[in-house]
Amino acid sequence: MAAAARHGAFHPLRVTAVDPLTDDSVALTFAVPAELRDVYRYAPGQHITLRRTAEAGEVRRTYSLCGPAPAPGTGGAAELRVGVRLVDGGVFSTYALKELAAGDTVEVMAPAGRFVLEPRPGHFAAIVGGSGITPVLSIASTLLARVPDARFCLIRSDRTTASTMFLEEVADLKDRWPDRFQLVHILSREEQQAGLPSGRLDEERLTRLLPALLPVEAMDGWFLCGPHGLVREAERALRTLGVGRDRVHQEIFHVDTVSGGPDTASGTAPVGSSTAAAPVPARSTVTAKLDGRSGSWPVREGEPLLDAVLRNRADAPYACKGGVCGTCRAFLVRGEVRMDRNFALEPEELDAGYVLACQSHPVTEEVELDFDR
Ligand code: FES
Repeated sequence: MAAAARHGAFHPLRVTAVDPLTDDSVALTFAVPAELRDVYRYAPGQHITLRRTAEAGEVRRTYSLCGPAPAPGTGGAAELRVGVRLVDGGVFSTYALKELAAGDTVEVMAPAGRFVLEPRPGHFAAIVGGSGITPVLSIASTLLARVPDARFCLIRSDRTTASTMFLEEVADLKDRWPDRFQLVHILSREEQQAGLPSGRLDEERLTRLLPALLPVEAMDGWFLCGPHGLVREAERALRTLGVGRDRVHQEIFHVDTVSGGPDTASGTAPVGSSTAAAPVPARSTVTAKLDGRSGSWPVREGEPLLDAVLRNRADAPYACKGGVCGTCRAFLVRGEVRMDRNFALEPEELDAGYVLACQSHPVTEEVELDFDR
């Protein structure tokens, strides 16, 4: 992948379709020109960041890719498809649902994210809520198409059938691979047939349900995606059932105060900041390496490291600025930082020395970040 594409570069891509999925969601399809197909090659489960510059300023949002990922050795991604659900007051989602039309152009950053299942033999499962189906649809369809003996179980929770995104696409997986794809659909606000009670999918219910459905401990990987509450409940249920942390992957679709309005952004679970409540030096300097070039700049009082870098390097990567998408991940080469919040980095990434630049404040006078690692 080109270095410029890795670090915050956007390309204008043409929208080729805006397909309604439900009353409040659409799938957007973008055409990728031949010369950029390698840049937009993606792994199943990754997301893209979309940017819109309007009178009120710039808005960036991350949305998960839902299509099967391009196979290695092919020419890359000829098209990108994402699912967008309308969020109350959401700047980008309102634009996507109410204004965007085929033929329009949107600025798109290269795919990113580590909520990924590289296709391999095994038995995998996902527990998703609402729009959390989006990356999992890509994961399941890629796996089933590419690995002949892999199996996938999808446990999805939605309010009603009418509010369920990608209903047809999921039914299609069931039709194509009836022996290898298992679907359990739970509706929280609708009576169901087939003996499944309605109501919320919580820890207690999952702890009872999962062993009846699957050989829980023998599963090769679990993918949890959706609202914070559901992901936490599912994580607790898996822990109760003895599933190791290393087999659980999660991505939270967090709806909270992120820059420019409360659109949905995707990221992984909160795992704590690196050094909470540490004193802040009066003066500090950040050194950052980005696409092979380094620079050192002062950090203003109270500002996150990302903002100090952005003042001098407009190409620094970011999307949500809210600690959820992970786009601003950087390796902490030197010094110490305190992070406000972290919904994106896994414990292993923190242990390895990665931080979220948008959430990091210097604790030492000198801090060095490497965005290239
Ligand atoms: S920009 Fe999204 S986590 Fe920092």
